[in-house]
Amino acid sequence: MHETQTDSASHPATPLVDRYGRQIKYLRISVTDRCDLRCVYCMSEEMQFVPRSQLLTLEELQRIGQTFVELGVNKIRITGGEPLTRRNIIQLFDSLGQLDGLNDFTLTTNGTLLPQYAAALKRAGVTRINISLDTLKPDRFHEITRVGELRRTLDGIEAARTVGFKRIKINSVILKNRNHDEVNDLVQFTLDRGMDISFIEEMPLGIISEHNRADAYYSSDQILQDIEKQHSLIPTTETTGGPSRYYRIDGTDTRIGFISPHSHNFCDSCNRVRLTAEGRLLLCLGQEHSVDLRRILRAYPLDNRPLREAIIQSMDIKPKGHDFDLTSQPVLFRHMNATGG
Ligand code: GTP
Ligand code: 5AD
Ligand code: SF4
Repeated sequence: MHETQTDSASHPATPLVDRYGRQIKYLRISVTDRCDLRCVYCMSEEMQFVPRSQLLTLEELQRIGQTFVELGVNKIRITGGEPLTRRNIIQLFDSLGQLDGLNDFTLTTNGTLLPQYAAALKRAGVTRINISLDTLKPDRFHEITRVGELRRTLDGIEAARTVGFKRIKINSVILKNRNHDEVNDLVQFTLDRGMDISFIEEMPLGIISEHNRADAYYSSDQILQDIEKQHSLIPTTETTGGPSRYYRIDGTDTRIGFISPHSHNFCDSCNRVRLTAEGRLLLCLGQEHSVDLRRILRAYPLDNRPLREAIIQSMDIKPKGHDFDLTSQPVLFRHMNATGG
């Protein structure tokens, strides 16, 4: 394996550079592993959640976010579980939104609480929102989310549109024989509303019982072919700094993204790390390499240097990438709700 050794000292302005020369500019913060939905690809039916006493406080989350921005991160995404279920969460948005140097402040949500929070999120400085929506059929929505009502997510999407974020993107996880027949309906839904959409290949995180992940695999290339039957797609080099490869629908402002961890691995250009709600800094979604930042925060409540140092050092253990295998039991027992994607 060829490794490019990059000395962080040679990048004084951006000390967050890993062993493969990848600059880390994007922090994903999971503020809770709890959610008001139970999507079949994300959670098992019975979930054990992290006890509330073990979560980072909102002040600790702010301290970590601020430290990352001081270290050159310019994009923060708040995720969950469902981030808007965390009590007083707007406080965190308000404080992070004021950080100098943060030019993309984003949220991934299932939308159900947006009617309540969209205006406050906009005021806090949130630039873009990604909303998960896999189907436009109420019965199916209930089956996929186990407990959800489609209407609530649709109302959330409308609330976000009314408030007017820079971009709203729909995230759809496409599963064969569950919702693959709705690809073009979902495209039309976003097109009618001037939004973007990303189609995501399911990733094998945690054990789930509803379907066999290998049988449910529906590749991005297949989705692309389905869409091209109805629309002319133009590849674009535009990026949101996330893993999506984008196409634009000819003559419109709508972008279609593909997140293809199986068919088009994007680890070479990885620019991100993620923080779990209990303060574990995960260096890769598909691996367990991590650093316990909560211990450091609490050992040094008044001195930020050890925290900075631990974050810089973590670059040395960021793995080259993931190698998901849908045909065997997952190597990772962590479900997606622990990281929010
Ligand atoms: P944009 O900023 O709009 O590009 O969003 P994003 O794609 O970075 O974030 P979002 O929370 O909407 O995530 C969409 C999907 O991308 C989720 O299924 C995530 O799990 C997946 N994803 C994001 N980052 C990674 C990554 O580093 N590795 C893998 N395998 N999947 C990722
Ligand atoms: N594979 C791919 N995407 C997933 N998500 C949740 N679980 C999985 C999985 N196993 C998606 C959600 C949400 C985003 C944060 O991650 O649909 O849009
Ligand atoms: Fe909740 Fe999102 Fe997981 Fe669905 S995918 S259960 S909405 S965290």
